[in-house]
Amino acid sequence: MIPVKSAAEIQRMRAACAAAAEVLYGVAALVVPGVTTRELNDAAGELIVQHCGKSPFLGYKGYPGNICVSVNEEVVHGIPGKRRVQYGDIVSLDVGIILDGYVGDNATTVAVGVVKPQTQELLRVTERALMAGIGKAKAGNRVGEISFAVQSVVEAHGFSVVREFVGHGVGKKLHEEPQIPNYGRSSDGPKLKPGMTLAIEPMINAGTLEVQVLSDGWTVVTADRLPSAHFEHTVLVTDGEPEILTWPKKKP
Ligand code: MF3
Ligand code: CO
Repeated sequence: MIPVKSAAEIQRMRAACAAAAEVLYGVAALVVPGVTTRELNDAAGELIVQHCGKSPFLGYKGYPGNICVSVNEEVVHGIPGKRRVQYGDIVSLDVGIILDGYVGDNATTVAVGVVKPQTQELLRVTERALMAGIGKAKAGNRVGEISFAVQSVVEAHGFSVVREFVGHGVGKKLHEEPQIPNYGRSSDGPKLKPGMTLAIEPMINAGTLEVQVLSDGWTVVTADRLPSAHFEHTVLVTDGEPEILTWPKKKP
């Protein structure tokens, strides 16, 4: 069963998602050469507390960070640590917050200074693929319409969609039904209804779609060690256009 949120629950989702966006872009502003991924994690922890929230990632299946920080060839679930961000890197930040019993979930990938044109293109295409997917998050559509839209944008530009990790429903829990793959056929998956809240999150590789998990049990890297990008929003399905709940209210 895919949860359909009441008007009161949607208000709480709006508040959690607004906070998730403030924390995400607050941390993104701190991504400069020399900063360690642990410093970004700790700053996120402080921002989450300032919003009177908690990290839904910390302790999830034993995950040790407040947020995920994934650099260059790291796809998702990078554990914050000693690694220092360097000029020319790309850094994916995945930030969730649980506020008043509801979860907001969002991610972005930032370029540290000037990156290779092909890497800049990867970021642009991944964000555009997310937006194409969000555009299909409408009542009456199937989840597969989101998946197909994302995949189409990505593959038209010669990049590849990670298969092993997917978007998801989000609400009282970080992961609810449905699963939202970033590839597939339009006719697949359940039908969307107003009041469903979805985390849509393409993970897109510059080269091969193959990934590996490092020996820390979490960090996902590309098999060819080429860069990967990740953008995510939490979205509300309505009677009309989708509402992007994690859209920042202040200019990032
Ligand atoms: N945004 C990711 C997700 O929804 C973050 C999960 S990190 C974890 O799956 F540590 F909580 F697994
Ligand atoms: Co997510």
